Amino acid sequence: MATEVRLLTPNEVEAGITSLAAILLDAVTSGASVSFLENFTLEMAKNFWIGLLPAVNQGQILILGALRDGQLVGTVQLHINTPPNQPHRADVAKLLVHRSARRLGIARKLMQYVEEVALDSNRWLLTLDTVPNSPAEQLYLSLGYVGIGIIPGYALLTDGRLGDTKIFYKQLASG
Ligand SMILES: CC(C)(COP(=O)(O)OP(=O)(O)OC[C@H]1O[C@@H](n2cnc3c(N)ncnc32)[C@H](O)[C@@H]1OP(=O)(O)O)[C@@H](O)C(=O)NCCC(=O)NCCS
Repeated sequence: MATEVRLLTPNEVEAGITSLAAILLDAVTSGASVSFLENFTLEMAKNFWIGLLPAVNQGQILILGALRDGQLVGTVQLHINTPPNQPHRADVAKLLVHRSARRLGIARKLMQYVEEVALDSNRWLLTLDTVPNSPAEQLYLSLGYVGIGIIPGYALLTDGRLGDTKIFYKQLASG
């Protein structure tokens, strides 16, 4: 089954809210530390995506989707709503692949494509963070992201314990 990875239009994001919410809920349920705790519900997940719509409509947040047989199974965001003195930087956020589609190279494809989208938006410095020693860290390292350090106890894990966060950057080109 082929996977298509592309930038979603704002209308597609809105139409895909239930699928995107299901992917986010699946990630939290699987124990991923992606902003939410284990009391997370589908309704809360939908509200998260609905809350992004104004920024998506204004082009401040770009949302990529990975589709298999037309069904959204993965996503990643590029936040280009940076301050005026950082017009060259963007944050990569919420890289998520549904458990039913993991280990098929979909996250890698999403990350490779998000770099193309970033360059198209004149963003050549990408920043992101993740839990140290997580599957995502392995992916970022293999794609050339540079880890600059760990902030201990930055965020709660889904079960409420304090967890560390590692900060990464990647220069896609030089300024
Ligand atoms: C992290 C995540 C996005 C990976 O998605 P995926 O589509 O399964 O990843 P890929 O198949 O593209 O794998 C890419 C690389 O990630 C790493 N990786 C992915 N899953 C892994 C696992 N379970 N254990 C160890 N490494 C893993 C490997 O380096 C892999 O490369 P390889 O296949 O050449 O060994 C997915 O597990 C997920 O959605 N997790 C929950 C949400 C999350 O933690 N997101 C990251 C937030 S920063």
